Amino acid sequence: MAGQWSLSADARVLGIESSCDETAAAVVQADGRVCSNVVASQNEFHEHFGGVVPEIASRRHTEVITAVVANALANAEVQPADISLIAVTRGPGLIGSLVVGVAAAKAYALAWGLPMVGVNHVEAHLAAALLHAPSQPAPAAEIFPTLCLIVSGGHTDLLLRSGPGQSELLGCTRDDAAGEALDKAARLLGLGFPGGPALERAAERGSREAIVFPRPQLPPHEFSFAGLKSALAREVKERGVLGEDEVADLAAGFQEAVVQTLWNALERAAAEHRPQQIVVAGGVAANRRLREVLAQGCGGLGLRLAVPPPVFCTDNAAMVALAGAQAFESCGPDSMDFDVFSALP
Ligand code: KG4
Ligand code: ZN
Repeated sequence: MAGQWSLSADARVLGIESSCDETAAAVVQADGRVCSNVVASQNEFHEHFGGVVPEIASRRHTEVITAVVANALANAEVQPADISLIAVTRGPGLIGSLVVGVAAAKAYALAWGLPMVGVNHVEAHLAAALLHAPSQPAPAAEIFPTLCLIVSGGHTDLLLRSGPGQSELLGCTRDDAAGEALDKAARLLGLGFPGGPALERAAERGSREAIVFPRPQLPPHEFSFAGLKSALAREVKERGVLGEDEVADLAAGFQEAVVQTLWNALERAAAEHRPQQIVVAGGVAANRRLREVLAQGCGGLGLRLAVPPPVFCTDNAAMVALAGAQAFESCGPDSMDFDVFSALP
């Protein structure tokens, strides 16, 4: 029976995302079909600093957000009257950045007389596994229990989901997130910003076995990447000026240590919790080597694996729209006075 807040499968949701340095808007149907997905990257503004500068990020969001939303509607060939719900990221993220997206979403909701929901960015990354382009078939529905790993610039979180909206945090990182570690490693190797994709490109020219980095031994479900970063810093210092081949080998060895650490944690958690499925999402899940190791590992264990297409792994608003549709169907709209938050409760 349809619930009080149920949306029809073709109801369109406008998603808005501005938690870090991408200004994004998308129109997505409640069944996960992506009608448009616009992402305005700020890389060129942060590159020079080697990382995201919060004040620059919020000011850029303010400049481009209305154009990004207008493009999302135009690309989906819809008018405001065709939208049923507005979903916006309310945290975790940079407060100044989040405020821009939330204020814009509230203004659109008031002007267009639409309900709105605030979305948890981490939940949105997980929802991305159910998104699909119009030309692609819809992914199979999630089967529970699901073991979920979010790997991004701000998170390395392992969760167990026993049902829709029922998540238990098994563990997270003690220090750097996996993406943060890759970004810092890329900076140490002079590979540019954002570091994850730059390190991946360099690693493809190197050998994974030439330089083997330590895999941190921690209690189950916990991660730590700070020691790995220090090991790379020591190598770089000892070697002095690095040749191109050395950089490629260091990148490949470092990336392999991160990838194997993530897989080892998943394998241990899978043995303990016996999930039906593994979902891996977040920017680092775009990494080709990680996707390869996950596919091999899950194949070996006979476990179903869901990893969103790379374009839906990194920050986007399509995932926010779909997570918003899910939240609305379970709990209805949020009131207009909701606030943003910087870290997970
Ligand atoms: O999910 P995301 O776009 O933003 C956050 O919520 O943090 O993740 C960004 C992180 C960055 O650390 C970036 O370097 C990393 O994801 N990343 C990658 C790749 N693409 C993005 N890391 C490894 N390989 C990639 N292809
Ligand atoms: Zn993210």
